[in-house]
Amino acid sequence: MKKRPLSVLILAAGKGTRMKSDTAKVLHPVLGRPMLSYALDLARSVGADRKAVVVGHMAEEVTSFLPEKEFETVSQTKQLGTGHAVRQAGALLAGKRDVLVLSGDTPLLTVKTLRRLIASHRRTGAAVSILTTVVDDPRGYGRILRGPKRRIEAIREEKDATPAERAVGEINTGTYCFDGPFLAGALGRLRRNNSQGEYYLTDVVALAVDAGLAVNGLLTKDADEALGINSRAELARAGEILRHRKLRALMESGVTVVDPATTWVEPQVRVGADTTLLPMTTLEGETRIGRKCRLGPMVRVRSSSIGGSVLVTDSCVIESSKVADHCRIGPFTHLRPGSELARGVKVGNFVEVKGSRIGKGSKAGHLSYIGNAAVGEGVNIGAGTITCNYDGVKKWRTVIEDGVFVGSNTELVAPVRIGRGALVGAGSTITRDVPPGTLALSRAPQEHKKGIAARYLRRKSKHS
Ligand code: UD1
Ligand code: CA
Repeated sequence: MKKRPLSVLILAAGKGTRMKSDTAKVLHPVLGRPMLSYALDLARSVGADRKAVVVGHMAEEVTSFLPEKEFETVSQTKQLGTGHAVRQAGALLAGKRDVLVLSGDTPLLTVKTLRRLIASHRRTGAAVSILTTVVDDPRGYGRILRGPKRRIEAIREEKDATPAERAVGEINTGTYCFDGPFLAGALGRLRRNNSQGEYYLTDVVALAVDAGLAVNGLLTKDADEALGINSRAELARAGEILRHRKLRALMESGVTVVDPATTWVEPQVRVGADTTLLPMTTLEGETRIGRKCRLGPMVRVRSSSIGGSVLVTDSCVIESSKVADHCRIGPFTHLRPGSELARGVKVGNFVEVKGSRIGKGSKAGHLSYIGNAAVGEGVNIGAGTITCNYDGVKKWRTVIEDGVFVGSNTELVAPVRIGRGALVGAGSTITRDVPPGTLALSRAPQEHKKGIAARYLRRKSKHS
């Protein structure tokens, strides 16, 4: 049988009053990603031919977050309820098609469950299929009311429910699959005769029952999936559940997480097997970590790629950088955006690198700033070496060719080039290019004045 086309509609127009925020609720991050991006991912995963987001409250902010070509926007200028929101989608519901409705505020829902819902909807040919679950504390959710033979008869919102109805533990997750033509017709028949004066999408269920159409409920056992975020406390809870999910997945794939309670790994991060994450490690954004690495404690990596067998020790920060295999970083190293370390590089205590490439096997062990530099292979950068890359107006480049030895406490005033195999004496201020194989020395010559120290000390002791 040919599958019917599918529209996905994400509801994201609501006020999110309970968040008490100037930011749209669906843009608040959960485990480092805006809540809405989870719904967008779900929408992408179900083979829909049309995908739309209903925007209203803070529409501009929400719309600017959407990938333009991929998602249509439907505008709901007045927030008159979830039923009203879906009604605005008009053409997206028309014709013989299935319509999947997702809430922008339910980021824990999984693709697996969503696919099960669609499959069960298609199998049963129901007018409405609802994803439900049973929770310990159903407060705030719509209750699933079942009649004889456990058939779903209606969804009752908390605020409209009788005490007996409130005692029901099975709730509406806010995820549904509808028969398009039925939905389009039913939306026109919704009334606002409820305690909130809104058009409830959930009332469509009773309309289907009245019309003698089939209503299908799919119960998911994992109640966490249903967590709708309405408050900051729920935001934190959802983040915590997602964090543990991610850590569990990593551990199952062969990553050692020494202390799951203090390890933060965002959803898109990938970590290779046999890598160990020590306590308080934070991996953010699009970060890739290879196999057999050891990171932490207290290491933060953001939007970076790290090869295999890399050691990143205590208290390092790595941002938008690339690190090849077998590098050793830290403790207390900061790789700022645009840093690239080739294989086997060592950067150590209090070294800051920015917008620079450091070649194979080179070392900067202590207290250095390497900015806008190209450092060759086998280079040794002495303690306290600084590239003076900024003249107050512009940034300039420093080039250090292969095999150079830079003595400690050297300033390299850019633009400047240190030729292959050159040697820079400790304490030098280098302002001109150094030819290959040359020793450059620019510190003030040392003078010795015989007997002066003894005389000075004698005089000092007389006065005391
Ligand atoms: C809704 C359901 C409830 C369910 C719960 C699951 C209704 C009437 N109730 O309640 O049965 O248990 O979700 O989390 O549907 N929205 C709009 N326009 C509006 C109002 C809301 O786009 O006019 C959007 C919101 O941005 C949100 C979603 O719809 O993403 C759900 O709205 P919300 O106000 O959070 O509904 P709940 O009270 O949680
Ligand atoms: Ca909600």
